[in-house]
Amino acid sequence: MESIVARSRRIAIIGAGAVGATFAYALMIRGQADEIVLIDVNRAKAEGEAMDLRHGLPFVRPVDVHVGDYPDCAGADIVVITAGAASKPGESRLDLAGRNAEIFRQIVPQVERYNAEGILLVVTNPVDVLTYLTARLSGRPVNKVIGSGTVLDSARFRYLLADHCGVDPRNVHAHIIGEHGDSEVPVWSLANIAGTRLTDYCVVCQRECDGIPKDEIFAQVRDAAYEVIQRKGSTHHAIGLAVSSIVESILRDQHSVLPVSSLIQGEYGLENVCLSLPTVVGREGVVQVLELPLAEDELESLRHSAAILQEVARSVGVE
Ligand SMILES: NC(=O)c1ccc[n+]([C@@H]2O[C@H](COP(=O)([O-])OP(=O)(O)OC[C@H]3O[C@@H](n4cnc5c(N)ncnc54)[C@H](O)[C@@H]3O)[C@@H](O)[C@H]2O)c1
Repeated sequence: MESIVARSRRIAIIGAGAVGATFAYALMIRGQADEIVLIDVNRAKAEGEAMDLRHGLPFVRPVDVHVGDYPDCAGADIVVITAGAASKPGESRLDLAGRNAEIFRQIVPQVERYNAEGILLVVTNPVDVLTYLTARLSGRPVNKVIGSGTVLDSARFRYLLADHCGVDPRNVHAHIIGEHGDSEVPVWSLANIAGTRLTDYCVVCQRECDGIPKDEIFAQVRDAAYEVIQRKGSTHHAIGLAVSSIVESILRDQHSVLPVSSLIQGEYGLENVCLSLPTVVGREGVVQVLELPLAEDELESLRHSAAILQEVARSVGVE
């Protein structure tokens, strides 16, 4: 008979900066974890965040939030890595590659030492290059190494389309694929509202409008982080929720289709690169990468995005 005592859900977060702390907060208010361990080279920062989070415990479901070190990764269902430098105004994500690759070369072997079974979920930028580096450094099956990829960008895409069309973003299905960054690709050909392709939706929509401003919407998606960073220094609320949604699909074995970054093994003829494609995500991490029918120009842009990522990976010594 199956035990009625639920298994404890343990999440380790490496990097208790803006993104790591906001993600921990999202986990906490959504009641997704029983234990959250914060690990940071700046221990005082991690301690401060853990204290601040614990002070909210009377308002949420019980969760043990504490500071730890690498041995505390043992037994974690998911180790989320948000450690490293973030973009400053005007800096692209790819500009961070060298610095953050060095940090990952220190972090990943430490995690491996204490946790060989869990899922590694990379959030630090450039997320695709660092997911690829992590997959190469890690001894675990590649389906257990995931990057947050374009889950955030796709959320921005869905929100902006929903805002334009006056509907709930949850009724908009649309993906950004490829790099989480400047070469990302909007999949307009498959975007739909309430199961209806955009062109058909426009016919039934009663609102006054000059059509969907595709270039403008995509530019806002692609440049969103630059715009936010210029105004407030970092992006962390939406990514915190995005990562908590990935975690939910893993812990509950939901098989949600999410555009996470993972090692591409032949899809669209691509390999030796991590990038985002719509992916079924469950308890074992990547369950299946979906090779959806893309338009020819989207496919070409995806190949271009893959080539850029491979070039950056090579430049930081990951083949
Ligand atoms: N993938 C996405 O969609 C997405 C979205 C937003 C931000 N990010 C990325 O997340 C990363 C973190 O951003 P942030 O705003 O939280 O930055 P931050 O500067 O606020 O926090 C980074 C934290 O990492 C810690 N750190 C640095 N080196 C470390 C090491 N070797 N071991 C352990 N901890 C270490 C720092 O002490 C700091 O607390 C950046 O690379 C940023 O670009 C990704």
